[in-house]
Amino acid sequence: MVHGIRCIGLLTSGGDAPGMNAAIRSVTRAAIFNNIRVKAIYRGYKGLITGEIKEFQTQNVSNIIQQGGTILKSARCAEFRTPEGRQLAYENLVREEIDALVVIGGDGTFTGARLFSQEYNVPIVGLPGTIDNDLFGTDSTIGYDTALNTIIDAVDKIRDTASSHERLFFIEVMGRDAGFLALNSALASGAEAAIIPERETKVDQLEELIRNGFRKSKNSSIVIVSESEVTGGANGLAERMRREHPEYDVRVSILGHIQRGGSPTAYDRIIASRMGVAAIDALMDGLRNIMIGIVNNEIVHVPLAKAIKDDKPVNEQLLGVLQILSI
Ligand code: F6P
Repeated sequence: MVHGIRCIGLLTSGGDAPGMNAAIRSVTRAAIFNNIRVKAIYRGYKGLITGEIKEFQTQNVSNIIQQGGTILKSARCAEFRTPEGRQLAYENLVREEIDALVVIGGDGTFTGARLFSQEYNVPIVGLPGTIDNDLFGTDSTIGYDTALNTIIDAVDKIRDTASSHERLFFIEVMGRDAGFLALNSALASGAEAAIIPERETKVDQLEELIRNGFRKSKNSSIVIVSESEVTGGANGLAERMRREHPEYDVRVSILGHIQRGGSPTAYDRIIASRMGVAAIDALMDGLRNIMIGIVNNEIVHVPLAKAIKDDKPVNEQLLGVLQILSI
């Protein structure tokens, strides 16, 4: 065995995302296919510290490709942020004879992975699993497409009542300070506007919205708002609107965690399956501390540091498209 990897540890961490199970299945089966053992670590880095680890066979990942959430459970682990926590985690890795880790998660997961690999020289490959799509170096993260579709289903329903009552709705979507979900769900649901943190720093979006006369030819309106202190969220904007433009009948809908659940779309299952196999290939090729991404439908390897640190830009031109289509 040239690559020297006999056993990998596999975990999911941070906010769960639909498609994580498809990724767990893929990593497990690709590893076993290549005669590499798989140890499943439960509850993210927490399970690595407490030793909640179980060896997986191919049947442990049967019948999960269609399930939302993560069968490995997830957590945001404060202890792993401490040197003492990481030392305990390393001791468990050694005890379990784990040679490399595959971690599925977002920004926080990769930040922990990077520190850990620097301190203990553990080979780590990351798979981007987050509904936010805010990781640099991949066109899409696992879970983003499903969340987008969940949002547009919800917005379609809200539109029915918005239109019946001739109301202006501010609908808040997730994204942890990134506007991908807001902007693209607005486009896909035919919303009148999207209010995103990336733009707020340049213009007062509420004013821009009014100036553009977004309600001129319509009796109702839907504005999608990114959750964020920068945008003020849907409640903050609705409050301002009621104060400054009392002529509108304003309502708020915060979609919340419904966006993180549900069966993954075909697209999320496909990228999760491809990325899982690519993670094992990368480890066997001697690659270390990278994230697997997909760009223009091709698998790419992105240094973890770049995936976390570089800002992935939203395509602000899409705001113009939205504006044109909302007349
Ligand atoms: O990162 C995924 C995400 O769903 C964000 O969009 C959101 O800000 C956050 O997690 C919510 O986290 P929690 O479930 O811990 O409240």
